[in-house]
Amino acid sequence: MNILIIGSGGREHALFWKLSQSPRADRIYALPGNPGMGETAGISIEDNTAVVRFAKEKDIGLVVVGPEVPLVHGLVDDLTAAGIRAFGPSAAAAQIEGSKSFSKDLMKKYGIPTARYEAFTEPEPARAYVRKMGAPIVIKADGLAAGKGVIVAMTEREAMDAVADIMENNSFGAAGSSVVIEEFMEGEEASLLAFTDGTTIRPMISAQDHKRAFDGDRGPNTGGMGTYAPAPVMTEKMAVRAVEEILKPMIAAMAEEGRPYRGCLYAGLMITSEGPKVVEFNARFGDPETQVVLPLLDGDLVEIMCACCEGRLADVPIAWKNGAAVCVVLAAGGYPGAYEKGNEIRGIADAEDAGALVFHAGTAAQDGKIVTNGGRVLGVVGRGADIAAAVRAAYEAAEKISFDGMYCRKDIAHRALNR
Ligand code: AMP
Ligand code: GLY
Repeated sequence: MNILIIGSGGREHALFWKLSQSPRADRIYALPGNPGMGETAGISIEDNTAVVRFAKEKDIGLVVVGPEVPLVHGLVDDLTAAGIRAFGPSAAAAQIEGSKSFSKDLMKKYGIPTARYEAFTEPEPARAYVRKMGAPIVIKADGLAAGKGVIVAMTEREAMDAVADIMENNSFGAAGSSVVIEEFMEGEEASLLAFTDGTTIRPMISAQDHKRAFDGDRGPNTGGMGTYAPAPVMTEKMAVRAVEEILKPMIAAMAEEGRPYRGCLYAGLMITSEGPKVVEFNARFGDPETQVVLPLLDGDLVEIMCACCEGRLADVPIAWKNGAAVCVVLAAGGYPGAYEKGNEIRGIADAEDAGALVFHAGTAAQDGKIVTNGGRVLGVVGRGADIAAAVRAAYEAAEKISFDGMYCRKDIAHRALNR
């Protein structure tokens, strides 16, 4: 069948790579795509009507939606209504990511473990709550803020500044018209993604992301500077608890609420002394988690995704390979602040020859060359028998790549290596 991938980042390139291994895959289109997976020009992924028309024209049998924005805008609903199989949640179900207060209220109602919280639409009561709870405390803009609307305040002063910033100075625009203020959870984070058809849930291998820009988890938050899988903090026992206490009740709750959830459910978890608790849910694959999870998937991704759409996930074989994968993001100097574009990238083929997977994220094709075109430029994935071997493979390959201003974290997977 022909397949259409929506999105243009490293996550989508990794999806492309895995989908293209399926015997069921014929032509795979990417919209807008990137030079690593091919590109389609002239259609906005926020124009549902145009995407539906394109999918019909190209006789697409499966659409895979990468990013959250088109999900929240109902792209899967519109494709499904047009009779096109689409992997991902409906707009109603994508609210688990689209609105933090929706997701927190649902967890409270169904007893799913997460940080205690209150939601506010006025700054005064928000400040009173901060004073009552004290620091450390976490302040979150309610809507989609591209991963940047969260302030972990270590002092009451920082918390007050965050409330003023979000609610009075509108630093996150409309996303900040309401805030969620929650208890600070102590522990180590891990991401657990799962396939679901609305009833059955099949967890993937766990992963851990590095959100800060610099070594030692310092510097500003980014979209993710690297990942590794599996995450040792997610022991078999913890994974079973996460599935039984979080993923299964969540899927049941969404069905109960009349918003059956299908697609990839991403649970950002804190492994606390009391067990796993939810930091956030995302309605999609993680980026760059996908780049390390899919290389360890032993199964036919086209078949798995079709089964999710058709409610027959329980019958599909899914296994996970032994060993580990590590992704090192090569970023443009200045990212997550301002950075240059258009710098020539060298050495991608050498890195691939060394056995790594190189996923394009912020690149463009220009005069027969590949140039930088975003903050996170490439994700270099090493694989090995264990995390240490995968780390070595990733950095050996990354060293073969260069462009002006390139930087990367040198300590991806440090928590796993130092255990
Ligand atoms: P989020 O966008 O909700 O994933 O939050 C971004 C980051 O802030 C998370 O990855 C955590 O590192 C941190 N964080 C969010 N909520 C909490 C919390 N309640 N306690 C501790 N850290 C948190
Ligand atoms: N890596 C974090 C995310 O995709 O939200």
